[in-house]
Amino acid sequence: MNPYIVGIFIPLIASLILRKSNNGKKRGLPADAGGEPGCAIRNYRVTSPVESNWEGVSTLAELFEQSCKRFTYKPLLGSRKLITREMEVNQNGRSFEKLHLGGYQWMSYGQAFKAVCSFASGLMQLGHKKDERVAIFSDTRAEWFIALQGCFRQNITVVTIYASLGEEALCHSLNETEVSTVICGHKELKKLIDISGQLDTVKRVIYIDEEGASSEVSLAQKNTSWKITSFVEVEEMGTEKPLDADLPVSADVAVIMYTSGSTGLPKGVMMTHGNVLATVSAIMPIVPSIGTKDVYLAYLPLAHILELVAENVMVAAGTSIGYGSPLTLTDTSNKIKKGTKGDASALRPTLMTAVPAILDRVRDGVRKKVDSKGGLSKKLFDVAYGRRLAAINGSWFGAWGLEKVFWDLLVFKKVRAVLGGNIRFLLSGGAPLSGDTQRFINICLGAPIGQGYGLTETCAGGTFSEYDDTSVGRVGAPVPCSYVKLIDWPEGGYLVTDSPMPRGEIVIGGPNVTPGYFKNEEKTKEVYKVDERGMRWFYTGDIGRFHPDGCVEIIDRKKDIVKLQHGEYVSLGKVEAALIVSPYVDNIMLHADPFHSFCVALVVAAQHAVEEWAVKQGINYSDFSDLCQKEETVKEVQASLLKAAKQARLDKFEIPAKIKLIPEPWTPESGLVTAALKLKREVIRKVYAEDLSKLYA
Ligand SMILES: *[C@@H]1O[C@H](CO)[C@@H](O)[C@H](O)[C@H]1NC(C)=O
Ligand SMILES: *[C@@H]1O[C@H](CO)[C@@H](O)[C@H](O)[C@H]1NC(C)=O
Ligand SMILES: *[C@@H]1O[C@H](CO)[C@@H](O)[C@H](O)[C@H]1NC(C)=O
Ligand SMILES: *[C@@H]1O[C@H](CO)[C@@H](O)[C@H](O)[C@H]1NC(C)=O
Ligand SMILES: *[C@@H]1O[C@H](CO)[C@@H](O)[C@H](O)[C@H]1NC(C)=O
Repeated sequence: MNPYIVGIFIPLIASLILRKSNNGKKRGLPADAGGEPGCAIRNYRVTSPVESNWEGVSTLAELFEQSCKRFTYKPLLGSRKLITREMEVNQNGRSFEKLHLGGYQWMSYGQAFKAVCSFASGLMQLGHKKDERVAIFSDTRAEWFIALQGCFRQNITVVTIYASLGEEALCHSLNETEVSTVICGHKELKKLIDISGQLDTVKRVIYIDEEGASSEVSLAQKNTSWKITSFVEVEEMGTEKPLDADLPVSADVAVIMYTSGSTGLPKGVMMTHGNVLATVSAIMPIVPSIGTKDVYLAYLPLAHILELVAENVMVAAGTSIGYGSPLTLTDTSNKIKKGTKGDASALRPTLMTAVPAILDRVRDGVRKKVDSKGGLSKKLFDVAYGRRLAAINGSWFGAWGLEKVFWDLLVFKKVRAVLGGNIRFLLSGGAPLSGDTQRFINICLGAPIGQGYGLTETCAGGTFSEYDDTSVGRVGAPVPCSYVKLIDWPEGGYLVTDSPMPRGEIVIGGPNVTPGYFKNEEKTKEVYKVDERGMRWFYTGDIGRFHPDGCVEIIDRKKDIVKLQHGEYVSLGKVEAALIVSPYVDNIMLHADPFHSFCVALVVAAQHAVEEWAVKQGINYSDFSDLCQKEETVKEVQASLLKAAKQARLDKFEIPAKIKLIPEPWTPESGLVTAALKLKREVIRKVYAEDLSKLYA
């Protein structure tokens, strides 16, 4: 046969076989679980939840030491040196800091291990006591990781705090955990000095050496009673007088992680070494053939469980970790000096983690660039994108074949170069990724996205969608360390007996489920339970359903349920999903109040549809805002909502009795919806408090 034809046929046949096996693949299987009755599933690879992938390794300290012995001469931690820092003034007179950063400089696994041991010894010599806690309050960087592992080697619990946390939350976290030593960068040191009067337990601060730190350091020396030492000094103290390690055991608390809730002060989630190790063991096999050839770009906050787990996965696999930041990520990032390299093009990573907000930004950036070019480039991009979409969407021709290679070379190569050109796998988590963005990134980067669903309380463990699952809108099957169970939630109308798929509240069980909230027994008891077999379960409050292949889809949130005056329960999410189908509705928030027997709604009017109707009716109006206030407009929209409600068979008490039309759209920029376009109910309620009270008047 002609070699050319063979060349086409082999990929065709291969793709046919691959498709077949993908379609029928069961990723989650029924599990035999204890505890509250429900419908439980597990990962297809394991029969019971995994605790550790490595014999003799039961803590993060042991895992790190093992890797440092196995990969001694491989590069581990990479950082960029600052070459110049300049201020640039734009047309509006605002000044911006621009950085010129050098290439990556590497510390091998062996060198990192020495640094960790030295830091651990130095910390103790500084006077830190065994039973006291250390807080790390800094941007993601190599010192963060060294400090973390250093504390682990002396069985010291680390408190992690988001660098962006407000003053009150910062005070609360440090106070509650009685932290005595804080490790921070100079920006964070400034914040600490501002609240130094309220921090009774802090005795010493270790600041990370960097250019520009001296003014904060001298201020801290003047205005506080803290002992101020630099990171390098601490390491030197430890090198001079090394101490033996005092290693923790699996059940010791490794980290207390403060997470910002949607309301109130942040809660500290306690995580044991065993908890984090379980998730690390579960996530590692999900990244296809991860190994010493891989390079990982680290830039998300390490105070976030997703990043903490990801970096420990990298260490376990012998991968190199290069540090960057969200503001220096690409050549066109805000802080990068024109003509110099962003982190991604300097590092050329193969692996990255991303939160949906960042991927949305990448997508919008590419779209904008393509649109602004216009003409042939835009047409070419649209054709290529459409072809690839159709290929992924079902017609298998071209999915793996020559056509892909053609479009890749012609169009997508440039897009890929934005992230260095070598990305082969992306981990996403923190919030659900929109289907549109997932497809866009899949196609333009040619790299699969593994999407995770988990919570700080479950150490990021929960479910994970595998790289060969091209469906969108789902969060995958349980990770190997977790059972996922649905339990009935009759008030919300979700039952495990529902057809065609079981539905209910998602409950996660396994060795990754954390012991609970620090100094908050009451809240811990509310959402954690231990079953008769000793397995811990966390009640997520998320509502999900199980697809036949054992993958989970999140469909609602339990918090969004309100009991009306007469005792009927209204599921806000369910009703909103039913009403948003009205052509006049761009967005809608249902509001129910336990002191009333009916609901009301804020409706963001769909401008195009409403104006079209108004023109047909010959209604006079000055602008859209004026039109939204007219009685007849409100009536028309309400009639349309009623129709949608009837179609969805909503009960009478679920249908909003009164509505207010909002002319301006709700966007992430306005702060009314999240980056994933979920309603921020508390914020919306505050902004429209007056309108809501009028609706009830
Ligand atoms: C680790 O530290 C904790 C808290 O100080 C202590 O309760 C625990 O016994 C220590 N673990 C070991 C193995 O010494
Ligand atoms: C921290 O504790 C100190 C003393 O116990 C108190 O004065 C201060 O108000 C506390 N701050 C916060 C934010 O709880
Ligand atoms: C530091 O102390 C000086 C004098 O004691 C005071 O004027 C200054 O405002 C203080 N600065 C801060 C940031 O607290
Ligand atoms: C993809 O397939 C679905 C259902 O099979 C269809 O509704 C949708 O329009 C398709 N999209 C494209 C872009 O072909
Ligand atoms: C709209 O305004 C025009 C002129 O001002 C008037 O003739 C017409 O009757 C108005 N239509 C309605 C529906 O009010």
